[in-house]
Amino acid sequence: MNLRLGRGLQIMGITVAIVWGLNLPVHSHGDAVPQPVDTQGLEPLGKKWLKRNPYKENEIAITIGSSGYNSNCARCHGLEVKSGGVAPDLRYLEDDEEGDSWYIMRVREGYHQGGVTKMPKFEGLISQEAMWAIRTYIDSRPE
Ligand code: HEC
Repeated sequence: MNLRLGRGLQIMGITVAIVWGLNLPVHSHGDAVPQPVDTQGLEPLGKKWLKRNPYKENEIAITIGSSGYNSNCARCHGLEVKSGGVAPDLRYLEDDEEGDSWYIMRVREGYHQGGVTKMPKFEGLISQEAMWAIRTYIDSRPE
């Protein structure tokens, strides 16, 4: 093979590798499969969506929420709820009715912008109990 052509191909290959490498994490974020959360031990909440966290400061909810958070939210919102910058730091959500209803709306619906899923919708994938347990865990993290 002609030396010049070989170089060109090599450079092209590197460029493709770099672009690929940069793109991959962005895509895999939205596509990863949500993990079920076992909420046994928590008071069942029924079908109606609540506006306030019913498990505030409940120790069982903190434990369950910690595992639910780590398997479903940490890859974007950061380990131990310390945001790495990809998504907002959830420790700063207001601890009041507005904060709770904003939280549950976002988790149920996710966030989509210009046809791109920035955050997956969790309604139908994890239970309401799991969502509030995760909120309880988030609130237990020091700011
Ligand atoms: C694929 C990445 C990703 C995953 C996974 C993800 N989120 Fe998000 N989340 C985002 C992004 C990006 C935003 C910012 C959306 C915006 O700009 O309003 C966001 C916003 C939020 C907000 C609103 C925060 C605010 O300050 O307005 C809440 C609450 C939230 N996420 C909770 C969760 C919870 C709980 C989980 C796990 C069950 C989760 N997210 C999983 C990417 C993600």
